[in-house]
Amino acid sequence: MKKAIKKAVFPVAGMGTRFLPATKANPKEMLPVVDKPLIQYAVEEALAAGIEVLVFITGRSKRAISDHFDKAYELENELELRGKTETLKIVQNIVPPHVTCVHIRQAEALGLGHAVGRAKAVIGDEPFAVILADDLIDDDAKGCLNQMVQVYNEWQCSVLGVERIDPSETESYGIVRSNSIGNSIGRVEEIVEKPKPDKAPSNLAVVGRYILTPAIFDKLDQVTRGAGGEIQLTDAIAMLLKEQAVLSYEFHGKRYDCGSKLGYLIATVEQGLKHEELRDEFKAYLQGLILD
Ligand code: UTP
Repeated sequence: MKKAIKKAVFPVAGMGTRFLPATKANPKEMLPVVDKPLIQYAVEEALAAGIEVLVFITGRSKRAISDHFDKAYELENELELRGKTETLKIVQNIVPPHVTCVHIRQAEALGLGHAVGRAKAVIGDEPFAVILADDLIDDDAKGCLNQMVQVYNEWQCSVLGVERIDPSETESYGIVRSNSIGNSIGRVEEIVEKPKPDKAPSNLAVVGRYILTPAIFDKLDQVTRGAGGEIQLTDAIAMLLKEQAVLSYEFHGKRYDCGSKLGYLIATVEQGLKHEELRDEFKAYLQGLILD
């Protein structure tokens, strides 16, 4: 029987060392791009894809994320008293009423694979999505995950969101070799975590979007520490694809690597230029800055 993708896992327990000291007391997924934290962009993408259960894998500083998606009585009262109806709506509608949030603690940051493994009891025997909020993907249609859910619905197997990268950057990504089966879709034959450019099987990089079948959990239980001493999701996927089809999907949309300072700044500028309230003044400001 076909099972719909209704649950998404958001691993937010990483150390975020590239953004210290900003991430000393706050997860990097709470860094704002214009007026929303990265994690909210990710949650909105999940909701647009029909997700109804949001599973956050949190670490040391979990409060900020759970508070962000929880009801804020004092703030809401205060906004109501001040007659700030529009702002009140924005604050109240972050998570619609039919959606459930679950928070699971990853006691130690042992890697992305370990973080995803913590969701096993909540996911059960269903296919599910994984979204890494530090990859912000802007797609003017219904979002990257929505595209991937459609691929899943057609093929009923795991789907990895991939993007062509500069061959010099392979050491920052999981890299796949896949055989095209048409329409931006390929069957993954091999996946390697952070290979050196001369050892990389291609320049097709896995970005922070996955749809996985529940069989991944058995594989995660078997994985030992890999690249960087971490339990890697990539290694579990490498085991999975020996038993089941795993697809790669070159999504439409622009990805910003907000886990890096430069990517984060680029996202801030470009999203600022798209922001209804800000775009004209911000554009004029940037033009002035360049002409000076
Ligand atoms: P990154 O590889 O970007 O690591 O994790 P990081 O620790 O967050 O950042 P840097 O490299 O130290 O700056 C990719 C995603 O996996 C999550 C992170 O929160 C991020 O969303 N993650 C990583 C976990 O949830 N747990 C882990 O043990 C590791």
